[in-house]
Amino acid sequence: MQKTQQALPRVYVTRRVPPEGLKILRQSGMCNIELWDSDDPVPRQELLKKVSGVDGLLCVLTEKIDAELLNIAGPNLKVVSTMSVGYDHLSRDELKKRGIRVGYTPDVLTDSVAELTVALLLATSRRLIEAVNEAKNGGWGTWRTMWLCGYELSQSTVGILGLGRIGVAIAKRLKPFGVKRFIYTDVAPRPELAAQIQAEYVSLDELAKESDFLAVCCALTPETQGICNSALFNKMKNTSIFINTSRGAVVNQDDLYNALTSGQIAGAGLDVTVPEPLPTDHPLFELKNCVILPHIASATIATRNAMSALAANNLLAGLKGEAMLKELKL
Ligand code: DGY
Repeated sequence: MQKTQQALPRVYVTRRVPPEGLKILRQSGMCNIELWDSDDPVPRQELLKKVSGVDGLLCVLTEKIDAELLNIAGPNLKVVSTMSVGYDHLSRDELKKRGIRVGYTPDVLTDSVAELTVALLLATSRRLIEAVNEAKNGGWGTWRTMWLCGYELSQSTVGILGLGRIGVAIAKRLKPFGVKRFIYTDVAPRPELAAQIQAEYVSLDELAKESDFLAVCCALTPETQGICNSALFNKMKNTSIFINTSRGAVVNQDDLYNALTSGQIAGAGLDVTVPEPLPTDHPLFELKNCVILPHIASATIATRNAMSALAANNLLAGLKGEAMLKELKL
């Protein structure tokens, strides 16, 4: 009798992901992989064409996985695995409705994001970018008593908006700088996490009023969209530093611009903006007290490889109908 060979599941990978992830997928021998082999995002029309009939999708945060895409993908699609901890690019309701499982990549990027957040905080509070430019461009006249003075962490209060693994990792790194007090707010107190850093739960109002450094670490959800707006900035100290390494849309950028230009707050460090990339003629780029990075918080070679490996393993587990290492609850 002739054996019928079952076709391998089809997987579309929407970006040239780091080699460890691709190696895992290829060596598994359990799927046919098609890859958008580029560092730049796959154009939407091409993506829609490619997802038709696939069993699995490995994507990054630039791809919107919404009803339109899922309808085109069709009923074969069992698993979407995103190489990111953030999942605001995924329509969770639409995925849930179709019974599609979702993998994501928390934990493996916690250290690199926390490290970058500390670097951005210090670059902003100690005015490093301004200082480098002054040194290079002839602004360095002589040693002056108050020139390029910034704000120090010693004896400060650090506020965390959204306490999760990353917020805890940031606080642990900041503690040795002599921070006096950690405070945080979230939808509810998180006593176990807070205990690791002796952080006190406060209201959003108190967080704004009392923080010398305010670090945004929350996920972007309908509830957190635009939560950092004039109402928040108006309560902050005019010596305070605002840092965002989560998602740009948690901040109302016009309100932030006003807070920075009016002196309502002292400075801001942003690794994320709306849109990304932020156009080079955006007014925020003109401000000396605003340090803007191009979304690099998790950008270390080790972390990006770990993210791609985890995303690949999540995808394979989903295809096999097994438990994923990190599955998003829908
Ligand atoms: C994420 O994973 O969501 C970060 O923003 C990029 O690493």
